[in-house]
Amino acid sequence: MTKVKTVNVGLIGAGRIGSFHGESVARRLVDAELVAVADPAPGAAAKLADALGADASYTDVAEMLSHPGLDAVIIATPARFHTNILVQAAEAGKAIFCEKPMALTLEDADRGIAAAKAAGVPLQVGFNRRWDQAFFEGRAAIDAGKIGAVQLIRSLTRDPGPFGGDPDSIPLWTIFYETLIHDFDTLLWLNPGAKPVEVFAMAGALVRPDARDKGFLDTAVVNIRFDNGSIAVAEANFSAMYGYDIRGEVFGSGGMVTMGDVRRSSMTLFDATGVSNDTWRRDTDHFVQAYTAQLASFVEAARRGVVQNAPTGADARNALAIALAAIESVSRKQPVPVS
Ligand SMILES: NC(=O)c1ccc[n+]([C@@H]2O[C@H](COP(=O)([O-])OP(=O)(O)OC[C@H]3O[C@@H](n4cnc5c(N)ncnc54)[C@H](O)[C@@H]3O)[C@@H](O)[C@H]2O)c1
Repeated sequence: MTKVKTVNVGLIGAGRIGSFHGESVARRLVDAELVAVADPAPGAAAKLADALGADASYTDVAEMLSHPGLDAVIIATPARFHTNILVQAAEAGKAIFCEKPMALTLEDADRGIAAAKAAGVPLQVGFNRRWDQAFFEGRAAIDAGKIGAVQLIRSLTRDPGPFGGDPDSIPLWTIFYETLIHDFDTLLWLNPGAKPVEVFAMAGALVRPDARDKGFLDTAVVNIRFDNGSIAVAEANFSAMYGYDIRGEVFGSGGMVTMGDVRRSSMTLFDATGVSNDTWRRDTDHFVQAYTAQLASFVEAARRGVVQNAPTGADARNALAIALAAIESVSRKQPVPVS
């Protein structure tokens, strides 16, 4: 039997999700090794590398890209750095997993895609919901024709409350670029082959109305019309007091699939106060299986040299085009075409 080669992975960005992905590579995947961590914040990379048993830590990404034997990188920096680091990693010949959003402009998305193509390296993007069991089965039912022609689609993200962020440190339009970008990918993925043609979005600051004047938005609804006639809605809010609520629904000519459940498990408590369920409170709890499976898929892509059955740079660009149209729609208070 041929021995499977271990893929040597370097993590770029040792923050919240980077630490979790690093832990997935080091502890949850059997055919990959976390060999290096890079982060410019003093001590951040060294601390994580030490905790996870990685060989080396760097404060400079270029230096990490020269780490001996490095096969692949995970980019988990703040969004505004993604494209430049992606291009740097492609030029160094590394397989790339890039967190969402891959880019903040279509020009940057094209630049990233072109760099990966020119270097011949696989580029996978962090739309983890595709690996959630319910969403995966929903897409399979659609592919099998079980609900007929897709007519209405819905995807929602309600982050767990109470909202504790500082509106002053959250970049403008984050709800579209970073939150709803997941829903835009989900809507595209659940409507195979359809192209978005028109977007009408509304948004507000209902959680932090005091920050509205600075342009902060924490609540949004986005309507999307596709070229196959289907109509979709994505919605988001930053403060669901009952938990981390991620759901999807596709209604077709022959039926419907629904996906997602805010309840942690089927354990239901019956007591003197009534009947209750615990709910998901963190993305890294809810999606531990999906996050791990997406990295297993990436490790396979690094080994094969090609991304298969996983979101690519082109998928990231398609979701970004909807986000940009939504931002324009909110700014102009009218429906806008999707570029
Ligand atoms: N797929 C998901 O469900 C999911 C969940 C959370 C975050 N994310 C995405 O992951 C990215 C990171 O989010 P986060 O919450 O972990 O952010 P974070 O702020 O917690 O961490 C970012 C880290 O990147 C480091 N960094 C900054 N500039 C860098 C550079 N040039 N090179 C290397 N490291 C650099 C920072 O020092 C910090 O440690 C964002 O794009 C976010 O949208 C995705």
